[in-house]
Amino acid sequence: MKSSVIPKITTHVLQEMKLRQKKISMLTAYDYSMARIVDSAGIDVILVGDSAANVMAGHKTTLPITLNEMIYHASSVMRAVERALVVVDMPFGTYQGNSREALLSAIRIMKESNANAVKLEGGREILESIDRILSAGIPVMGHLGLTPQSINKFGTYVVRATQEDEAGKLVEDARLLAGAGCFALVLEKIPAVLAEKVTREINIPTIGIGAGSKVDGQVLVLHDMLGINHDFSPRFLRRYHNLYEEIKGSVEAYISDVKNLEFPNEREQY
Ligand code: KIV
Repeated sequence: MKSSVIPKITTHVLQEMKLRQKKISMLTAYDYSMARIVDSAGIDVILVGDSAANVMAGHKTTLPITLNEMIYHASSVMRAVERALVVVDMPFGTYQGNSREALLSAIRIMKESNANAVKLEGGREILESIDRILSAGIPVMGHLGLTPQSINKFGTYVVRATQEDEAGKLVEDARLLAGAGCFALVLEKIPAVLAEKVTREINIPTIGIGAGSKVDGQVLVLHDMLGINHDFSPRFLRRYHNLYEEIKGSVEAYISDVKNLEFPNEREQY
């Protein structure tokens, strides 16, 4: 049973946190069981990221995941969460170049999953879509810097905005997104000094991933920080566990117990 006494994190709470210089914690989750653990630990924001395409479905990029699949993940998460603000990534192809389709996709996410907000990748080129989604009362989180849905344009996942012109464009895009009414902005894999500048210049919270410490909050992909993925080691990633080895060890122990007739024992049967 869900308790009604837990105060829910809202976009206004995040804004307050920026003003009071209290750091915002954010992690991804894609399913009920993990979302329950992450929420009960006290995370501020859960992102149902399209990184689900990688860590849940084994795709090489985030591009293949569909709107239906994102809604499935988001509704599973929403059944678990009591406190965190839940943001859902709009998948590739559901908002670029067509603001009406963007609105309909965002409405489907909100209606069918019961989530709290959506996230879109990009700056000025998707402003019309963002405007239209916001006008329906749906909170929008922006995402600049490394935008994995554009991997085919850039061809690499290296640090973004290291050159002056690209950095200037990013700052301008950040201003546009904040001015349009986005409630927060993810900054992925950009120089720390640039992330600091953006954080100072806009009045909405910035959430960094590979963007240094002078941002308003941090986000990591849950499977990366728990070490479930053992073949992804960017510099910005801090691993809090080595679950790949731990789970593998447990499965090996189970197999051995079964083969050697050590499971189940007398107490584990009826
Ligand atoms: O999809 C995702 O997990 C993300 C984070 C890396 C910010 O967009």
